[in-house]
Order: sequence, then structure tokens, then C-alpha cells
Amino acid sequence: MKTQIGIIGAGPAGLLLSHLLARQGIDSIVLENQSRSYVENRVRAGVLEHGTVNLLTKVGLAERLRYKGLPHYGVEIRFNNKSHRIDFNELTNGAGIVIYGQQEIVKDLIKTRVKDGGEVLFEVSDVSICDPTRDTVKLKFRQKGKDHEIACDFIAGCDGFHGISRKCIPEENLSTFNREYPFAWLGVLVDAPPSAKELIYANSPNGFALHSMRSPSITRNYIQCNLNESITNWSDDRIWQALHDRLEIVPDWELIEGAILEKGITPMRSYVCETMRYGQLFLAGDAAHIVPPTGAKGMNLAISDVSYLSAAFTAWYQSKSEELLNNYAKNCLRHVWRGEHFSWYMTSLLHKFPHSSPFQEKLQLAEFEYLCHSNAASRSLAENYVGFRFK
Ligand code: APR
Ligand code: PHB
Repeated sequence: MKTQIGIIGAGPAGLLLSHLLARQGIDSIVLENQSRSYVENRVRAGVLEHGTVNLLTKVGLAERLRYKGLPHYGVEIRFNNKSHRIDFNELTNGAGIVIYGQQEIVKDLIKTRVKDGGEVLFEVSDVSICDPTRDTVKLKFRQKGKDHEIACDFIAGCDGFHGISRKCIPEENLSTFNREYPFAWLGVLVDAPPSAKELIYANSPNGFALHSMRSPSITRNYIQCNLNESITNWSDDRIWQALHDRLEIVPDWELIEGAILEKGITPMRSYVCETMRYGQLFLAGDAAHIVPPTGAKGMNLAISDVSYLSAAFTAWYQSKSEELLNNYAKNCLRHVWRGEHFSWYMTSLLHKFPHSSPFQEKLQLAEFEYLCHSNAASRSLAENYVGFRFK
């Protein structure tokens, strides 16, 4: 087999890259080790920045997003007994976000790739990259008991944090930055209408909670829990008790309960691999960087990366210009570090840190009070939440 760009991973990064390339007449093959139904049903975050929505609309991927997505123009932050609304409309000149589950984007992308004759191979195994420093690089894999090889001009490693792409880069070429948080998030998908019009982030005396949604009849809620906690320790009753306790911290507000459809625990990590290119191999999305979910930047950063990468490949094929390929990591990393800072800030503001000192707790409260009383502080949060774009 032969293609121009071999893409590893059919998450939002890999699939969107292959769609953007196809629009420029550039061939690609996507290799995914899970099944189509697995990737289409994997529950992940669901906040699309203003710029992400604009990009998906511009490239013809917003048909379902337009009628199923929920536009939001603010979020609420609760701290002890007080609530503060961040008004995106007022603070960002009318920008907003859209709530639309990541797996819905994945479904839209796969459907569009298949309709356009794109090659997305599911349930492959043993994907490996042969010498990315050569001009023509080979991707090897197995499918249905047979070995295959694809000769590619370039490889895009879009295979998430645990994928193989980043591991192909020799240690001495890597610069990595890592922070692990001393807690995790327990997330539940619930068959119940939202209890509020907008998302609620709460720092309560017993820890963080988030009330989010997927549709007018499905909500998504999270609570901070201990690191390495087993989901079997959390009965539905215990989850509801924690959600009520942490979210109902302002007067006259009640959380609506419903059947729990899915539950899982996610660790929290900030990680950046500054080496996003090694020879003909380019990393994008979670393969190169991870953010904690507070602020929901993960998928938006993955989309920002592949918009740079598709522009760089396009310039190379159209005019053999290497400038954008050479500047790929630099261009992406400005956005990545902004997202890293914002999600670290939101995580630090809103969680109870084990062994934190009274001094650190006073700092959290001081920051919350600042947000409540300073337009500049609220504007900064709003600008980052809807997605800051470097010009
Ligand atoms: N071979 C083939 N596919 C692989 C391999 C491999 N060795 N390893 C991982 N994959 C696949 C995974 O099964 C997954 O479908 O790569 C895909 C990576 O997709 P994502 O994890 O969704 O990563 P990305 O596309 O970068 O999107 C980032 O995903 O994790 C969330 O919060 C994150 O929203 C962010 C988004
Ligand atoms: C979600 O809806 O899953 C979600 C929303 C906001 C976040 C994280 C996750 O910060």
C-alpha cells in the first residue's frame, strides 16, 4: 500500500486531519486499533471553543452540531455559599462555546470520511513506524491475521497519550514537562434534564464538582475523588450524595437525579512533549500533550494542532515549502501552553488539595473574590474559556 500521509489513531485529531487533507486533495490512511463502535461511543468531554466551532463549520462538519449542539454564553462558579457567573457575551464581545460530546464529533467525522471514500482501517494491531528519519517512511500493521505495510511521505502520530508514536522518538530528542495531580475525577452520564441552563463548577468544603450536560435530557456530572480509587467503591447512592453535597451550596438550587447510564474515573495530568516532530513523524493532540479536564481544553488543542499540520502539509505539497513544517511545533506550542496554563489555573482554583495548608485555601478564596469583583479577572477567565487565539 502507498499513501501521502499515514495517520495513526482515529480520535478527533487523526480523523479531522484526514478530512482537512482530503479537502486539499492529499491522500491519507488512518489506522485505529479499536473498533468503529468503540471510538464512536467512548464518552469524553464536550465543550467546543468558539474557534473550534468556526473551523468545523467552515469545513462542512457542522450539520448535526448546528441542531444538536447547545450554545452557551456563560458558566457559573460556586465557592462555599456564593455563586459568580462568567458572562461570555459581555466579556468576550459575543463569543461563546457549544456543548457537543466528543464522540458526536467522532461519529460525524467517520461518517463524512466514509462518504467521501476516505480510508479508515479499524481493529488493526501491532502498528509500528520504520525509521521516521528517511524520506519515505513505512507504517507496518496487522489486520485480520495478515501483515501489511504502507509507504508514506509523512506520518501523523494522533494516537493519544498511550500510543506508540511518541515512543518512537529517541529519548535524547525529547523535552517533556509533566505534573500529576493528587486526585481524580469520577464522571457520570445521567438520564435527567439539566438542573441549570449553564455549566456549574463548584469548589465546596468537601471537594470539587461539575454539573454539565449533553442534551435537554442527558446530564454529565463529575466529582473529585481520591487518586487510584476504584469505581466499585462508588455506589450510585454515594455518588448522588456527593453531588448534592458539593453542588447544592447556594440557596434555592436542587440537582435533578436520574438513572446513571455510565460511570468512570479519570486521572488528572498536565503533560507536554515539546518535540512534536522527529524526521517525517509529526505528533498531534493527546499524543503530544495532556491537560487536566477542568476547562475542557483537550479536544480543542487537538483540533488546533491538526489545523496547523494540515496547513503545513498543504504548503509542502503545493509549493514544496518547508517553512510551516519547520514551524509546526512552535506554532502549536503557543496554544498548547496557553491551554496548559488555563487548565492548571482552573484545577488549582477549584479542587481541594490533600495536605493543602490554610494559606493555600485562603489563596483560592482570594482568587474567587477577585473574579467576583474584577471585570478584568472575569474577562481573562472568559477569554480563555471560549478559546484564546494568538494572531
Ligand atoms: N495503533 C492505532 N491506534 C491507536 C494506537 C495504536 N498503537 N494507540 C492508540 N490508538 C488510538 C486510540 O484507540 C484512539 O482512538 O488513537 C486514538 C487517539 O484518540 P484520542 O485519545 O481521542 O486523542 P486525540 O485524537 O488526540 O484527541 C484528544 O481526546 O483524550 C481526549 O481529552 C482528550 O479531548 C481530547 C482528545
Ligand atoms: C463535560 O461536559 O464533559 C465537561 C465540561 C466541562 C469540563 C470538563 C468536561 O471542564
